[in-house]
Amino acid sequence: MCGIIGYIGNRPACEVIVKGLKRLEYRGYDSAGIVTEEGGELFIRKGAGKIDELTEKLGFLKMPGRRGIGHTRWATHGVPSDVNAHPHTDCTGKIALVHNGIIENFAELKEELLKRGHRFESDTDTEVIVHLIEEELESTESFEEAMRRALLKLKGSFALGIIYTGEPDRLYFVRNESPLVLGIGEGENFAASDVPAFLEYTNKAIFLDDGEYAILTKDSYVVKNLDTGEIVEKPVHEIEWTLEMAEKAGFPHFMLKEIYEQPGAIRDAIHGNADVIRAVAEEIAKYEKIFIVAMGTSYHAGLVGKYLFQRLARKVPIVEDASEFRYEFEDLIDENTLVIAITQSGETADTLAAMKLAKKKGAKVLAIVNVVGSMATRIADLTLYTHAGPEIGVAATKTYTTQLTVLTMLAVELARVLGTVDEDYLNELENGLKSVPEMVESVLKYDGGLRELAESLAEKSDFFYIGRGISVPTALEGALKLKEISYIHAEGLSAGELKHGPLALLEDGVPVVAIAPSGRTLDKMVGNIEESRARGAFIITLGDNEELKRVSNAFIEMPEVDELLSPIVYVVPLQLIAYHLAVLRGNDPDKPRNLAKSVTVE
Ligand code: F6R
Repeated sequence: MCGIIGYIGNRPACEVIVKGLKRLEYRGYDSAGIVTEEGGELFIRKGAGKIDELTEKLGFLKMPGRRGIGHTRWATHGVPSDVNAHPHTDCTGKIALVHNGIIENFAELKEELLKRGHRFESDTDTEVIVHLIEEELESTESFEEAMRRALLKLKGSFALGIIYTGEPDRLYFVRNESPLVLGIGEGENFAASDVPAFLEYTNKAIFLDDGEYAILTKDSYVVKNLDTGEIVEKPVHEIEWTLEMAEKAGFPHFMLKEIYEQPGAIRDAIHGNADVIRAVAEEIAKYEKIFIVAMGTSYHAGLVGKYLFQRLARKVPIVEDASEFRYEFEDLIDENTLVIAITQSGETADTLAAMKLAKKKGAKVLAIVNVVGSMATRIADLTLYTHAGPEIGVAATKTYTTQLTVLTMLAVELARVLGTVDEDYLNELENGLKSVPEMVESVLKYDGGLRELAESLAEKSDFFYIGRGISVPTALEGALKLKEISYIHAEGLSAGELKHGPLALLEDGVPVVAIAPSGRTLDKMVGNIEESRARGAFIITLGDNEELKRVSNAFIEMPEVDELLSPIVYVVPLQLIAYHLAVLRGNDPDKPRNLAKSVTVE
């Protein structure tokens, strides 16, 4: 996730762009850059660091020109650095481009471009795009046509802002699976990843759809279809948000916004790992002794990973809380050990210590991380990124579902390398994973109903979350979300454990949330629900089997999904229930008491 802002009009472009970048900083903040144009010359300033520092250091506000594009980066390919910051230029220096998204086939495209003599300055996937346009421009007079032809070669997600010295009066913006919205002004026009970037100047917006591009001049705009080049008529929306609302895309809290970003984040996680997962699976296939280490929500992702590895790759990892691992397992780690560390921030002290210990003992370390360039990525031998973009709410939401996405891809690929499971089933799972974002979209539509449910539960003081098999970690995660932001006591446990003690706590009206996707143990789960009901518990069930309605006080009907993919979809209503309960009880879910986003001390 990165931020893009473009401006063409009569104001100094740099001023509009710097302000826009500040408003987009939530989308990424490891580096930034600006290109402006005056007198047929491009001016580019860019570097690693925060926007305020760079504005000062590089003199962003002294850049000439009335048209330009800015970019704030959240690294995906290539560490945060001056050369990897956007914009990127072609070999002639006439085209400059910024990008938000991930180009899946960049490695092969880059290899071909290098063979044909193109010079690359950065390690980014983005740079291939600008060289591809340069190449197409050799065989056509029309920049627009060259751009279209080049972009049709890309696989993956991209929102682009493009400037070309050969056309002094226009800017190009493209959208494919990464957000882009136009701002329509009087004698000036804007484009940005998100409305707040230009809301100060205009509240008229056009939301581009996937596979569309726009050509902006200061007095006009046109939107076209990328495949055909034909004009598309687009409605102009009047935005009624205040600036503060717009920063959270109209959501009252970042947490809710991030819950709603999950379909896009999961898609990015799939795209971002499609071309690297095989190599990682091949590297780790030989290890029998596998530990998964993590804390909190990332630990719950690790527990889901255990079920995936067991069922698909027939390997049984030991999942350990990193704070325990670092003191308990030293003697068991050697060069035949694989340690998989899962961490959103890449800076959690206990997880880093566990990784360092593993390295010291000669183990291979794979990190699954959200923040590019974080410490965990520097310690690990191998890294897979979750591509969720910055998460501002303290409670992990989209970073959890993207961790699960990456773990699913890894387990499927490992099974493929090892030949442990029928290929047809692996293909089915892979295709199923691609439709998970739509399932999450459908579940998000229950938000209103879940809020009403939360209203009826706001006075409760204890919750139980139960699941079986791969749904046990979902139960744990549901309980953690509730505890950390609503401050209501909650326990997550395997449903089979109920009658070994916790059942004693159930009495009239105590909420029991049952995670019950169809699968191996659904009938056992029904038995556990009956057990709880008989003690007067208020049963809230998540499932896809109608039969569950009979045994529930509230039934949340979930889309049919393979049990192994269900953790990604089933956690979403639990996040929403926790969110609404926190708000109803007067808490700020973005900043829960006593908690920090990243726990960098032991
Ligand atoms: C809960 C939450 C925490 C983190 C934990 C690990 O919502 O966010 O439990 O999951 O502190 O953090 P990372 O993943 O950054 O290592």
